[in-house]
Amino acid sequence: MSHLIAPSILAADFGNLQSEVEMVNQSKAQWFHIDIMDGVFVPNISFGFPVLKQIQKHAKKPLDVHLMIVNPDQFIQKFADHGAEILTVHIEACDHLHRTVQAIHSAGMKAGVALNPHTNISLLEDIIADIDLVCLMSVNPGFGGQKFIENTYNKVKKLKKLISDSNSNALIEIDGGVNAETAPKLLEAGADVLVAGSYVFGAKDPVVTMSNLVEL
Ligand code: DX5
Ligand code: ZN
Repeated sequence: MSHLIAPSILAADFGNLQSEVEMVNQSKAQWFHIDIMDGVFVPNISFGFPVLKQIQKHAKKPLDVHLMIVNPDQFIQKFADHGAEILTVHIEACDHLHRTVQAIHSAGMKAGVALNPHTNISLLEDIIADIDLVCLMSVNPGFGGQKFIENTYNKVKKLKKLISDSNSNALIEIDGGVNAETAPKLLEAGADVLVAGSYVFGAKDPVVTMSNLVEL
């Protein structure tokens, strides 16, 4: 499979949300990455359902929703109703991860599990065959525009091996600090989906930047 690019709306201009979403529609990027932060799991608050509803209204590509929240179970159906195609929860926020993954699938979505930079890949051993995506955080979650953590390359390689040893179909997504320098190395290590926020929306020409990332 060739890789996918998921521009992170967190870095978009929220005063012009509709045109930012339409710009991604017209680009070669394949997904929308949507960051939901609750101010508890991470030290920042992003946006909630009213904003997501507007994104859903205009977006013509899959919504890849990344929940950086505690107790995600209570909102699973609501995210399905707001058009999430992939719903990713943090392993550090789930006491009953298998139950959460089952609930995401029952609501008709693909299930992703995100790992903070310090969280070991081995914790996925007994869930990897049941999930559709692993999101490796390559920065500490909570903010866009942070510096990429170099240890991520090793984690991608370890995760790739775990996925092939387990007959899992999970995609490897990398979130944080993706740019022209880190993206090719991540793809070489085995990444399938690259999330890019500030690098795309801070670029002079975001459409060209997305297209360059797609064509790597
Ligand atoms: C961080 C978010 C990321 C963020 C990435 O907590 O999960 O998706 O938007 O932003 P950049 O690409 O600027 O590092
Ligand atoms: Zn994210």
